[in-house]
Amino acid sequence: MWKDKVVIITGSSLGIGKKLAIEIGNKGGKIVLNARNKERLKAFENELKSCGIRAISYSGDISKNEDCVALFNYTISKFNRVDILINNAGIASVGNIEEVKPDVFQKVIDVNLMGSVFMTKAVLPEIKQNRGSIMFIGSIAGIHGLPAYSSYSCSKMALTAFAESLKIELNNTGVHVGLAYLGFTENDPKKTFLDQNGKLVPQPARNKIKQVPVGRVAFRIMKMIEKRKFKSTFTLLGKLNNFLNRINPYLVHQILLSQYQKN
Ligand SMILES: NC(=O)c1ccc[n+]([C@@H]2O[C@H](COP(=O)([O-])OP(=O)(O)OC[C@H]3O[C@@H](n4cnc5c(N)ncnc54)[C@H](OP(=O)(O)O)[C@@H]3O)[C@@H](O)[C@H]2O)c1
Repeated sequence: MWKDKVVIITGSSLGIGKKLAIEIGNKGGKIVLNARNKERLKAFENELKSCGIRAISYSGDISKNEDCVALFNYTISKFNRVDILINNAGIASVGNIEEVKPDVFQKVIDVNLMGSVFMTKAVLPEIKQNRGSIMFIGSIAGIHGLPAYSSYSCSKMALTAFAESLKIELNNTGVHVGLAYLGFTENDPKKTFLDQNGKLVPQPARNKIKQVPVGRVAFRIMKMIEKRKFKSTFTLLGKLNNFLNRINPYLVHQILLSQYQKN
């Protein structure tokens, strides 16, 4: 299924995107890497090439429409087609709404939501022609709003609406739309998040929380694309959150409230 498929993976110099690039590349896919940090991206492109993986990279900020169009044009100039887009790049900010600066909130929406919208729009005609896939990387934080993560929850919840709208609009076009609700995943040691002032700070280790290995997450995302599955929630906690939120949202609210009050 992956052999010779041209796959754009946004945010693929670290973490889940990086693992997806390795796994899909090992299966014969042609990989298009993207991230903002050019040096780190180029180093990873070279690493993939040294393992015999066909990879190119385009450094750009997906929260800017012109960068998304340029990423698409670069892909066409090098590989001549696009089969699959994985909207993976994402950032989080932490802080209660009273503390978070408005432009920090805006940045999270711009990257996580608008970045996925701009990329989807840029590649859609080509993906339609190739009856390919558009995959969104959501989060269990997008099932019910989380305290101190309101921008992140808003951005991920909005991805559900966008993917649902898209799936209806693309009915009978042969395009697959997928949305994965990820739970806590093993983080890249270089992972960062935005503090309330917009400063990128290292993500502290989440030692007390059970985390899914990044390889397992990449495997499941790939399976969704292979099986052309629409939605999937990856962890038990996520499945429970999803289920309870449907049958008893008050209970979910109470659980989150008690956790919030403890911290
Ligand atoms: N890790 C988890 O526990 C978890 C749980 C649920 C959902 N998710 C979702 O899974 C996805 C990947 O998460 P991750 O933990 O692997 O992230 P990560 O380790 O922080 O890596 C993020 C990647 O995105 C790139 N990036 C960030 N902003 C960008 C922008 N504006 N334009 C282009 N690239 C950008 C980063 O490189 P540069 O900084 O160089 O741009 C990096 O390559 C995200 O959508 C995240 O919300 C993760």
